[in-house]
Amino acid sequence: MCGIIGYVGRQSAAPVLLDGLRVLEYRGYDSAGLSVLDDRLVTVRRVGEVAELGKALAMLELEGTIGIAHTRWATHGEPEERNAHPHRDCLGRVSVVHNGVIENMAELKSMLLDEGHAFHSDTDTEVLAHLIERELARGVLPVEAVARSLALVQGTYGLAVLFADFDHVLVVARQGSPIVIGLGDGEQFVASDVSALAGQVERVLYLDDGEMAAVTREGVQLYGLNEQVIERDCEAIGDVCGRVDRGEYPHFMLKEMFEQPEVVRRALAGRLFEDRVVLGGLEDVVSRLKEMDRLVIVGCGSAYYAGLLAKYVIEPMCEVPVDVELASEYRYRKPLITTRTVVLAVSQSGETADTLEAIREARRKGALTLGVVNVVGSTIAREVDAGVFCHAGPEIGVASTKAYVAQVVVLELVALYLAQVRLGRFDRAFAQALLALPEMIATTLSVRDDVQGVVQRHSLMQNCLFLGRGLHAPVAYEGALKLKEVSCVHAEGYSSGEMKHGPIALIDSLFPSVVMCPFDDVYEKTVLGMQELRARKGPLIAVTSDDLRGEDGRFEELSGLAEDVIVVPAAHAFVQPILSVIVTQLLAYEMAVLVGKNPDKPRNLAKSVTVE
Ligand code: M6R
Repeated sequence: MCGIIGYVGRQSAAPVLLDGLRVLEYRGYDSAGLSVLDDRLVTVRRVGEVAELGKALAMLELEGTIGIAHTRWATHGEPEERNAHPHRDCLGRVSVVHNGVIENMAELKSMLLDEGHAFHSDTDTEVLAHLIERELARGVLPVEAVARSLALVQGTYGLAVLFADFDHVLVVARQGSPIVIGLGDGEQFVASDVSALAGQVERVLYLDDGEMAAVTREGVQLYGLNEQVIERDCEAIGDVCGRVDRGEYPHFMLKEMFEQPEVVRRALAGRLFEDRVVLGGLEDVVSRLKEMDRLVIVGCGSAYYAGLLAKYVIEPMCEVPVDVELASEYRYRKPLITTRTVVLAVSQSGETADTLEAIREARRKGALTLGVVNVVGSTIAREVDAGVFCHAGPEIGVASTKAYVAQVVVLELVALYLAQVRLGRFDRAFAQALLALPEMIATTLSVRDDVQGVVQRHSLMQNCLFLGRGLHAPVAYEGALKLKEVSCVHAEGYSSGEMKHGPIALIDSLFPSVVMCPFDDVYEKTVLGMQELRARKGPLIAVTSDDLRGEDGRFEELSGLAEDVIVVPAAHAFVQPILSVIVTQLLAYEMAVLVGKNPDKPRNLAKSVTVE
């Protein structure tokens, strides 16, 4: 959520910063801006996407070799130019970009106003620029000015500061929002996200919470917030993907959906074999996994729904109670955590603030913490005790598709692993089904034409209910989230068993339902629910499995009940939901395109939500 990039070196800073912003744009796209120190400090900001900033910069000749930039997802203040970062002090001599939230903004702003500072935005960030100005006026140097200012601040920040009067240095600091420094030869880069540094540097330094750094052309000096010098070796940047393009696809979301067979192959490679599962990332914690008496899965949005699905797999297979919790609620209800509790965070970005805080709370209380994370080097990946990476590759579309599928697959590997190490069991049939999954996903993606037809027939829909039962209840939740996210059509996901307890009141001929009805052990009950909807004139879109065709008259019965029937391959019960969810992804994508929305950049959203 919001992206930061900084540069000090020998190149012209503006193109480097703009390039970095393009990589980070998925973190927010309400507005973008940069400050570069030429013979004076120049700041350019624009509402909208980074391309708008690019157009503005094309008309300027900025030659400065030090600067900072930001792409914003609005927290305080509407997405207007005056609220775009960087923010400056009264004299325009200090420029700040910031991710996070200054919680005591009101109090600090009132103090600064009383002292005569003039504010130009509604943001919390501007407070930082004036606090630093105030300290510099007392004659201190940049690192001390930032440290003293941050001592007054409550909240979270990842920030970078540029000074008109100190043309050699950027000061960066971190508390709750990531900052990574890329070390080059005579040049250094700063970013909120290591992907912006891929291809630029080989070595990086991640700031920890409570740390700051002075970054100059010659090198980097780390400090604690009380200015004590910290010595730490840098590390190799590792296997980080930077810029990715859409290739022949019109949108990243479509490209990422079609990458799913390969994503699953990568998630399984070297881990799943016909007779065993190997998860190197969990080996060091096996003894604690054996002692575990409860597994708690935490996540937000799609990651939470991946966890819900995993509960249906892990609990019966591993004979351990599994709770799935919204990370944003977990620590607020004072959860019961013991040293035998294992708390597993699911997160694509590895930066979701709510999930990170849930894990920190669990750790404080003595739980073993695990991560199922996609982004290598992310904060959650670095803070958990152990974990398994998703290897889905960079996901640029804001709606999670391939990352969600990778999360489910990795959680299913975790299920196999727990059964293996705790119970000495290995479910070969399930393993074989997972190994066959990439091919099945490829076949499932070929229903895209059918889905386009469905969407055209329902092009005017304003509301939609997604229903499923058992393993398909979480698919219904995820399907509804996807549709509302990218197409702005109102959608609700319900367990089909719950439908008659309330939502059926909404149903009429204009309110369609997408029903997950593979031929599984709850099929009959699901069909009964569909009949109830039909009796209320509700249009039905059924997503079923091709083994239904072999069942005497049942396929015909379903085709008589539902206007549209989409058929995916039949698979193992634990794998079937992955095929069904792909239909819902296609549905959301096609609806977004039909109603003229950009599915890659849904209104009001950002890819990773780094504020609570
Ligand atoms: O990066 P994370 O997996 O932690 O993100 C969690 C949610 O913000 C995310 O899944 C969100 O719900 C997606 N936009 C869903 O498509």
